[in-house]
Amino acid sequence: MASVLVASNRGPVSYTLREDGSLHPRRGGGGLVSGLSAVSSGDSVWVCAALGDGDREAVRRGIAEPGVTMLDIDPQVYADAYNGIANSVLWFLHHHLYDIPREPVFDAAFRRRWESYRGYNQAFAEALARAADEGAAVLVQDYHLALVPGQLRELRPDLRIGHFTHTPWADPRYLRMLPDDVHQELVEGMLGADEVGFHTRAWADAFLSDPRVGRTIGDTRVRTYPLGVDGDDLRALAHRPEVDDRLAALRAEVGDRKTIVRVDRTELSKNILRGLLAYRELLTTRPEWRGRVVHLASAYPSRQDLEVYRSYTASVTELAAAVNAEFGTADWQPVLVSVQDDFPRSLAAYRLADVALVNPVRDGMNLVAKEIPVVSDAGCALVLSREAGAYEELHADALTVNPYDVTETAEALHEALTMPAAERADRTKRLAAAATALPPQRWFLSQLAELRGQ
Ligand code: F6P
Repeated sequence: MASVLVASNRGPVSYTLREDGSLHPRRGGGGLVSGLSAVSSGDSVWVCAALGDGDREAVRRGIAEPGVTMLDIDPQVYADAYNGIANSVLWFLHHHLYDIPREPVFDAAFRRRWESYRGYNQAFAEALARAADEGAAVLVQDYHLALVPGQLRELRPDLRIGHFTHTPWADPRYLRMLPDDVHQELVEGMLGADEVGFHTRAWADAFLSDPRVGRTIGDTRVRTYPLGVDGDDLRALAHRPEVDDRLAALRAEVGDRKTIVRVDRTELSKNILRGLLAYRELLTTRPEWRGRVVHLASAYPSRQDLEVYRSYTASVTELAAAVNAEFGTADWQPVLVSVQDDFPRSLAAYRLADVALVNPVRDGMNLVAKEIPVVSDAGCALVLSREAGAYEELHADALTVNPYDVTETAEALHEALTMPAAERADRTKRLAAAATALPPQRWFLSQLAELRGQ
C-alpha cells in the first residue's frame, strides 16, 4: 500500500527478452523518475503497462522493481488502446495532425478500439484502487489514461486524484470531431480528478474553453506546471566520458563549421521535414553558407508500429539525402542525420550547437528547447516555433517562427547564425535560467503539495 501513486503508460523500466531467455532491464530517465525519487521509498507505487513481450515475461516471472506494478493487459486490448486510440486518435487530435479529407473516420472499428481503451484505463484504475492507502494522492499521466480519474473516483472516493497532460490540449472546435458521447466520456474522465494540470496556459485555456468542460467541471481545479530541466544534473550528464568521446567524433566531422542542431523523436508534430526545407532554402538564398555550416539532425525512431510514422521517417531520410545530393561537395556534407537513439550523441550535439532548431507544429512543452541552452558549450541561438509550449517561457530570448513558414524559418536560421557572440551569450544565459525555473522534482512535489492541500 502507498500514500503516493503515479500511473503512466510507460513505466520507469522496460525489459527485453534475450535469445538465451534472460531479461534485460532498461531504465528510463525523465521528470517522473526524478520527481518520484523525492518521495521516501516504500511509500510510493508506480503503476505502468507491460509494453511488450519482455515486460509481459517479467510480470509472469514475478520480476519487478521495488515500487513498480506492471500491468499485463491483453495484447490485443493494449494494441487497440495504445496504438489505435492514444497514438492514432488522441495524439492526432491534441496536435491537430489529421489529414482532414481522409481522417478521422469514426466507425465500428473505432468503437471496438474505444472499448479497449476504456478497459485498459479500467485496469489502471483497479490496480491503483488496490494499492492506495486511505486518502492517498494519485498522479495520473497523460492522454493514454484520460478516463482513469473518473473510473478511480467511482472505486475510491477518498483519494486525492491529479491528472497531468504532457501534450497540448486540442482546440475545442477540433476536439468536437469526436463522436459526442466519446467526447463527453473523455471530459468526464478527466474531470474525475481534483486537479487537472497542463504545461502551459495555452493548453489549460484550450481545455477550459470547451463548452462540455464548462458544463461538467464542478470542483476540479485547472493548473499549469511548466516542466523545466535540472541544470546541474543535465550538465553533469553532458560531461561524462562517453559524451566527450562522441563530441570529439562530431568535431572531427564538422571541423570549424557552424552547427544547426535538432534532436527529436521522428514524430509528425516535430515538423522535421519543414526544418530541412528551411535549411535547403537557407543554402539556396544565402549561398555564403555553403560549406560553412552543418545541420546535425537526430531523429530517433518512434512509434514505428504505425505506418504513417514509418513513412514519415522514410521521408525525413530521403529529404536529407536530397539536400546532401544538391549541395554536398567532396569535403562537405550539409546534413548529418542520425536515426539512432543515442543519448550521449545527442548531448554531444547539444554542446556543439551554435543554433538550436525547435520548430514543432504543436508541442506540449518541448524539453529540447530548454536543454540545449543549458548544455551548449559556447551558447546557442534558439530558433523556436510559436506553437511549442516552451514558447511561453522562452520567446523573449529566442528567434520565434511560424512553423509552417519555411521562408521565415530560413531567415531565422540566418539571423541565428550571424548573431553577435555577446548577444548570443546573454540570451543563452537568460534562456538557461528560464529553462531551469521548475526542475522535475519541484514540478512533481508542487503538484503533490497542491493535491494534498498543503
Ligand atoms: O509528450 C507526451 C509523451 O508521453 C512524452 O512524455 C513522451 O516523450 C512521448 O509522448 C512518448 O511517447 P511513447 O511512450 O509513445 O514513445
